[in-house]
Amino acid sequence: MTPILVTGAAGGTQGGTGRRVAETLLRAGLPVRAFVRGDDARAAELKDLGAEIALGDLREIRAVTPALQDVRRAYFTYPVAAGMLDAAAVFAAVAHQSGLERVVAVSQLGSDPQAGTPHMRRHWVAEQLLDRAGIGAVHLRAAVFFENLRVAIGDTGELRLPLGSPDTVLPLIAGADVADVGAGVLCADTPVAPVQWLAGEIMTVGEAAAIFDVPYVNVDPEEWAASAMARYRDDVVVEHLTHLWTMFAAIGSGHELFRVTESIEEFTGRPPRTLRDFVDPG
Ligand SMILES: NC(=O)c1ccc[n+]([C@@H]2O[C@H](COP(=O)([O-])OP(=O)(O)OC[C@H]3O[C@@H](n4cnc5c(N)ncnc54)[C@H](OP(=O)(O)O)[C@@H]3O)[C@@H](O)[C@H]2O)c1
Repeated sequence: MTPILVTGAAGGTQGGTGRRVAETLLRAGLPVRAFVRGDDARAAELKDLGAEIALGDLREIRAVTPALQDVRRAYFTYPVAAGMLDAAAVFAAVAHQSGLERVVAVSQLGSDPQAGTPHMRRHWVAEQLLDRAGIGAVHLRAAVFFENLRVAIGDTGELRLPLGSPDTVLPLIAGADVADVGAGVLCADTPVAPVQWLAGEIMTVGEAAAIFDVPYVNVDPEEWAASAMARYRDDVVVEHLTHLWTMFAAIGSGHELFRVTESIEEFTGRPPRTLRDFVDPG
């Protein structure tokens, strides 16, 4: 059996989806080639679980070419950070040449050329690159991760966001559900629709704050952007989130895309995880 390549396999702070996909496939007895960029403790853990390790930078063709050798299926994820389009372009070019048959790629709910954040527009371009490579791309267009709200709260005891009214609606999902759909699509023997919209729960920011048991505090977008740099230390993240929260504030009480989607249940066989379960796993 040829290995399944899982990028982002070490698992970072945004959703840890690659890590969960790798572990799920390994537990199912499937061969996994885990792409990691550091030979650290997380790589050692993956090795202990039975993964083959591919080490390198996803933006570097000399690292991606051997990683995709003899691979038929792959999971592609790259954090909200500089270089996502470089990584997608390298992946698309190499995978086209190596004959990849399916790539499950993480994207965002609002991916569109007119999307409200620059990073969502980049995701749309990345989708086009993967589609045109003819590598069976399936795009997971995911809602806001629960993890995102946890990071926003940090140790402040408040959910301070430039979202306007506490009645502003957010489409949400657990990173773990994105990963579980990803693993399900990778294992599916049947054709899969090329775009999967993923939202597990729709609620207002006021309701979300109450589940975390903290107050929601509306802040001015410029003030938020200025303070966010100290927390996220990444220009692309701050740019993306500033536009994202402003976009949700403008949308207000909902959008046609804001609905719980069937894909989670279809590929996992269970209902979506709730924010309440995420906050208090019991
Ligand atoms: N956060 C949200 O609310 C949200 C919502 C919708 C969609 N998404 C999408 O979710 C995706 C991110 O989720 P995730 O679970 O993958 O994030 P994550 O948990 O932060 O994991 C990212 C992984 O990519 C690795 N990585 C970073 N730069 C790399 C490079 N140049 N070469 C090789 N590996 C690299 C990281 O390694 P290190 O840990 O070693 O740096 C980490 O293991 C993005 O596409 C984002 O747009 C996020």
